Amino acid sequence: MNPSTPQDAPSAVGATLAVPVWDWPVRVVHWAIAVLVVVLVATGLTDMIEWHMRAGQVLLMLVLFRVLWGFFGSRNARFGAFVTGPSRVLRYGRSLFGGKHEVHATHNLAGGWMVVLLLAALATQAVLGLFANDEAGSNGPLERYISDDLSNTLSGWHVKLWWLIVALAVIHVAAVVYHRVRFRDGLTRAMFTGRKDLPAGAADPQHAATPWLRVVVIAAVCFAAMWLVNR
Ligand code: HEM
Ligand code: HEM
Repeated sequence: MNPSTPQDAPSAVGATLAVPVWDWPVRVVHWAIAVLVVVLVATGLTDMIEWHMRAGQVLLMLVLFRVLWGFFGSRNARFGAFVTGPSRVLRYGRSLFGGKHEVHATHNLAGGWMVVLLLAALATQAVLGLFANDEAGSNGPLERYISDDLSNTLSGWHVKLWWLIVALAVIHVAAVVYHRVRFRDGLTRAMFTGRKDLPAGAADPQHAATPWLRVVVIAAVCFAAMWLVNR
C-alpha cells in the first residue's frame, strides 16, 4: 500500500501494531541535525567561529546525505512517499484543524512540505556560510573564490537567514507537540525507535529496511564533496 495513504484512527480500525517506518539513517541524521542547529546558533552568536565552521560543514554533509537519501534511500524515506500536491495538502490542513485524525506511515501531507522547507533553508544557510567572512580574518572555505564585496553580501544574508531556520524549527516542534496533545500521536517516539503504532496492514515494514550499500555510497559522496570544498 502507498505509505502516504491516510488511514482512519487506529481506534476506529481496531488493533494496532508497532510497525517499522523510519530506517536508522533517517533517525540518526534527524537528531544530529537537531543538535547541530543548536550548536551552530550558539557558536555563531558567541563568535566561536572555528568550531562554528566545522559544525556547519558537518551539518551540510548531513543535509546532503538526507537529500540523496530522499531519492535513493528506503521507500519510506523517499520524498515521493510524503511530498504531494498543494490541493491535497490544503484539504489535509482543513481536516486537521477540524479535528479529523489521519494516521500516516511516513510524514503527514503538511509535514512532508515542512521537511522540504527545513532541508532547503538549512542547505541555503550552510552554503552561504561556505562563502562568508567574519571581517576578523576567519573565512568560509570557498570565500577565496569570490570577491570581498560578494562575500560581504553573502555574509549579510547568512547573519539574517538563521532566524528563518529558528522560526521553522519552532513551528516544526509546535506541530509535533500539537499532534501529541490533540491526537496522542507518538511521532517523537517513532523518530527514536523507528516504529509507529499503525492499524494492521497499514504499512509494509520492508519500506523501512535500510539498503546498506547505498548508505556507504551516499556517505562516500558526502565526504568527497566536503573534501573538495576544503581542498
Ligand atoms: C526537540 C526537538 C525536536 C523534536 C522533538 C523533533 C521531532 C521530529 C519528529 C517527530 C519528526 C517526524 C515527524 C513526522 O512523523 O512526520 C521530525 C522530522 C524532522 N525534523 Fe525534527 N524535531 C526536533 C527538532 C528539529 C530541529 C531543530 C530541526 C532542524 C532545524 C528538525 C528537522 C527535522 C527534519 C528535517 C525532519 C524530517 C526528517 C526526515 O524525514 O529525515 N527537527 N522531527
Ligand atoms: C545551518 C547552518 C548554519 C547556521 C544555523 C549558522 C548560523 C550562524 C549564526 C547565528 C551566525 C552569527 C550571526 C550574527 O553574528 O548575528 C553565523 C555567523 C557566521 N557563520 Fe554560520 N551558520 C551555519 C553554517 C555555517 C557554515 C557551513 C559556515 C562556513 C563553513 C559558516 C560560517 C559563518 C561565518 C564566517 C560567520 C560570521 C559572519 C559575520 O560575522 O558576518 N556558517 N552563522
